[in-house]
Amino acid sequence: MTGELLRESYSIQGRNFDKAGEISTEIKVLLRDLGIDAAFARRVVIVAFEAEMNVVMYADQGTLTLVLTEGDISLEVKDEGPGIPDIELAMKEGYSTASDEMREMGFGFGMGLANMKKNSDDFCIESEVGKGTQVFARIRLNSNG
Ligand SMILES: Nc1ncnc2c1ncn2[C@@H]1O[C@H](COP(=O)(O)OP(=O)(O)O)[C@@H](O)[C@H]1O
Ligand SMILES: [Mg+2]
Repeated sequence: MTGELLRESYSIQGRNFDKAGEISTEIKVLLRDLGIDAAFARRVVIVAFEAEMNVVMYADQGTLTLVLTEGDISLEVKDEGPGIPDIELAMKEGYSTASDEMREMGFGFGMGLANMKKNSDDFCIESEVGKGTQVFARIRLNSNG
């Protein structure tokens, strides 16, 4: 096992569209400053952005934790919120429960979870209705998604 080189936690406020995307932007800058491979960083930022947006759109609040090792980055996103009653359905491309208002802002294409999975080497999601959702994604440096 490779050791942790860096661990950062960020808190995400649900329903705060003014701040939406701030955490993934912070991560993008962090990875750039660390001189991390651009294609690898891009995949991490896609996953982080989609996860962040899902907390903003659907949950009350959440935490994103990023862990960097020599060979990968893992993202763990836990939220307190309504949870997802049918994960298989939620994972389907094009499925979205976004409101009209969210769609007007350019969100709610129903591609977020599918894109997160596509850009991750390991991906898992667990949810409890009425409690919240947990997403774990690991992106390996030496893979092309
Ligand atoms: N953290 C979450 N909490 C509750 N529901 C969620 C969460 N993330 C995703 N969902 C549900 O899964 C659906 C699909 O998510 P996603 O693929 O990201 O598409 P979109 O965000 O465009 O709706 C959402 O519309 C929502 O119903
Ligand atoms: Mg989404």
